[in-house]
Amino acid sequence: MSVCRQCHADKFSTFVHTGMGMSFGLATKEKSAALFGPHVQVYDSILDFYYHPFWQGDSLMIMEFRLDGADTMHKRTEHISYIIGSGQHTNSHLLQVNGYLYQAPITFYTQKQEWDMAPGMSGGFNSRFGRVIESECVTCHNGLPEQVAGSVNKYTGIPLGIDCERCHGPGSIHVARISSGIAVDTANAFDYSIVNPRGLSTELQNDLCFRCHLQGINVLHPGKEFADFKPGQHIRDYWNIFLPRFDGKNDQFLMASQADRLVQSKCFIESGKISCITCHNPHVTVKETPISLFNKPCLDCHQLPQSTCTETLEVRSLQNDNCSGCHIPKSGSIDIPHVSISDHKIQIPGREQEKEDGKFTGLVALTDPDIEPVEMARGYLRYYEGFVSESAMLDSAKAWLERSRHDDLYDATQAHLWYLQGNMQGLLQMDVKMGNKVPDSWTAYRLGEALLQEGNYSAAANRFKQAVDQLPLQLDFRFKYASALYLDGQTEDAGKEFLFITRENPGYEKAWMNLAVWYINKGDVVAAEEALQNAVALNPDYLQARLTLTDLYLRTRQRTKAGVMMQYLLRYHRDEPLVQELNMRYRSL
Ligand code: HEC
Ligand code: HEC
Ligand code: HEC
Ligand code: HEC
Ligand code: HEC
Ligand code: HEC
Ligand code: HEC
Repeated sequence: MSVCRQCHADKFSTFVHTGMGMSFGLATKEKSAALFGPHVQVYDSILDFYYHPFWQGDSLMIMEFRLDGADTMHKRTEHISYIIGSGQHTNSHLLQVNGYLYQAPITFYTQKQEWDMAPGMSGGFNSRFGRVIESECVTCHNGLPEQVAGSVNKYTGIPLGIDCERCHGPGSIHVARISSGIAVDTANAFDYSIVNPRGLSTELQNDLCFRCHLQGINVLHPGKEFADFKPGQHIRDYWNIFLPRFDGKNDQFLMASQADRLVQSKCFIESGKISCITCHNPHVTVKETPISLFNKPCLDCHQLPQSTCTETLEVRSLQNDNCSGCHIPKSGSIDIPHVSISDHKIQIPGREQEKEDGKFTGLVALTDPDIEPVEMARGYLRYYEGFVSESAMLDSAKAWLERSRHDDLYDATQAHLWYLQGNMQGLLQMDVKMGNKVPDSWTAYRLGEALLQEGNYSAAANRFKQAVDQLPLQLDFRFKYASALYLDGQTEDAGKEFLFITRENPGYEKAWMNLAVWYINKGDVVAAEEALQNAVALNPDYLQARLTLTDLYLRTRQRTKAGVMMQYLLRYHRDEPLVQELNMRYRSL
């Protein structure tokens, strides 16, 4: 962007003030739009945690704590590295631990000027500091990141905001050409060394914006990545985007749903030539776009003799005859609380609300009108996993799968379906059928799970190893691999794996726990104690770690430390049978 700026200063100067130009940044006082103060806090009443954001010098911190009367029973403070969201609607907060990126549990909502739980984290879904920020998320909210190969959320380079190349494609050839004196008269022709979206077909213009503004169920093709798509290409060559449809009423929508709503409007369907850039100049923020510019495209199509507005001029002039004020009204989104966004389904105001709540009629793939049946099946599986866990979704997946060609993708999808149905016998048959060839890491993982449940630990370890070989820094795979090794009696190798995980990501509480058990069996109580303390500091409600640590304190006759543990256990977990037993041992110490 800094190179583009040298010659396109006009575009740069307005773009950096748009939501896209400010979509992502370092967590600095300049970037933050939030309010701070000693009394600012958010309370999660279900998990019983308080959150307090504050500045420590120039570093943004979020402290999590729990109170029992005047006593602080738990305190964990995390450093925030990045802010996601321009502040037009929200600021959300990300932390980075040894390269691994996570979302913090609280968000500042600028339209209401208040802090609250982050989207999706209230109502018992608080993942604390552990929501994994995958490339799916980052590639919609930022320039393209540098991701560590074989990882899910480890990055070596994170850009600071959506940049020119996200819409214009790689720019090096263009810059080199211009610098060596080759120029095109762009008033009369296109410069094919760089993408000018104006020159793309309506469909490809839309693919460019839909890539980020069509938030649905994304299902990647095997071997493809979210970072692979480039402007001027079709999304469907990399992944498919599915959206649920309902009978009648469809007016509940996600925040990034402009595309989904727009394609449902008569203007879009019947004209066949509307794209986002019919109305938007993405280099200039909507906040600084005058009504007259937004009215112009409406009037271009809705001039006499075509039908024009049937509302009276009197009523319309009360609202400055702002077409979109009535036809693209502001309303709430269902995924992000406390924000209002524009409903891009252009329609006669109020019509949709008159209908009854509709029944689910199925998923549609907005990316591909000629979608393969196996892809439909994959869409339903992801919808089931991520959104609506009803068995009807699995039935639909099964029905689509029955119509699919039998190939590797079929097998992988079949394994996925059986996994979600809990059909372990099916998976064990698949395990035999596949032999040493597994199509992808997730299939290997699912087969490993079935073998593990079957008690076949060594075969399970081999399958998990296949998953790990393909994604060495997917630490959940590694954790499973280590656990299977342990159960199989290969304890030395298991210990090394648990150690690797805690070194790679010190925030992985279950690896600390299992590492401690490994140390205890080796007789190294000092290392075990430290590992357990780490697990409990990360998660005060990690009961197994707390019980093991208390037991260890009692065995090593550390009465004071055991006392502090007992106080917590009796306060929060009095009914656990083991707690009473530990208490008796504590009293007699
Ligand atoms: C050294 C100056 C220079 C730099 C640096 C530069 N451009 Fe250009 N750009 C030009 C000139 C001159 C033109 C018009 C002539 C041409 O395209 O051959 C142009 C044209 C364009 C066009 C319109 C092309 C068309 O076919 O209509 C786009 C889009 C564009 N630049 C984007 C970018 C982006 C994105 C970057 C950064 C990656 C960038 N430019 C960097 C000088 C530059
Ligand atoms: C790389 C993903 C990405 C692409 C591609 C993209 N957008 Fe965006 N856009 C976003 C995100 C994320 C936001 C919200 C940023 C924020 O406010 O934090 C946004 C915000 C906007 C806004 C509101 C912000 C403002 O200040 O006006 C408009 C309008 C917009 N985009 C239009 C477009 C159009 C038109 C296209 C296609 C030419 C497009 N976008 C392509 C991700 C993208
Ligand atoms: C398909 C692309 C896409 C994905 C995936 C996606 N988002 Fe978004 N998100 C958007 C767009 C586009 C907007 C802006 C919509 C608007 O301004 O109307 C948005 C809005 C937001 C906002 C409100 C921002 C603001 O202030 O306007 C937050 C916070 C957010 N997303 C966080 C996330 C997180 C965290 C993830 C990953 C777990 C994620 N999003 C995944 C596209 C996406
Ligand atoms: C969200 C997508 C998006 C981003 C980001 C973006 N552009 Fe554009 N750009 C467009 C679209 C769409 C057009 C075509 C606009 C039109 O003709 O209406 C365009 C056109 C251009 C042109 C062609 C000349 C013109 O006036 O039409 C230049 C030059 C350009 N952009 C430079 C930049 C630079 C420099 C940046 C980064 C500072 C940038 N753009 C960021 C979408 C984007
Ligand atoms: C590319 C041309 C085009 C543009 C731009 C356009 N429309 Fe339309 N619009 C149509 C067509 C075609 C229809 C369907 C035939 C009809 O009802 O006239 C339609 C239908 C409508 C309807 C009736 C919808 C219904 O469900 O009955 C409304 C209201 C409307 N447009 C308002 C607008 C407004 C407001 C704008 C600007 C924000 C706009 N249109 C922009 C072409 C367009
Ligand atoms: C017919 C005109 C029209 C089309 C086509 C259109 N928009 Fe908009 N868009 C608007 C208007 C009007 C606003 C409200 C501007 C304001 O707040 O003043 C808006 C606002 C937005 C915003 C700001 C956040 C919000 O929801 O208020 C985003 C983001 C956005 N549009 C993205 C898109 C994308 C992506 C597309 C293509 C899928 C698109 N728009 C197509 C007219 C249009
Ligand atoms: C004060 C709100 C308001 C404003 C401003 C407004 N409209 Fe409408 N429009 C309506 C209502 C309400 C209807 C439906 C009236 C009825 O029941 O026939 C409508 C109907 C329409 C229709 C559908 C006509 C048909 O075929 O049934 C179109 C097209 C339309 N408006 C376009 C526009 C355009 C273009 C503008 C801006 C120049 C605009 N409207 C400004 C409220 C508004």
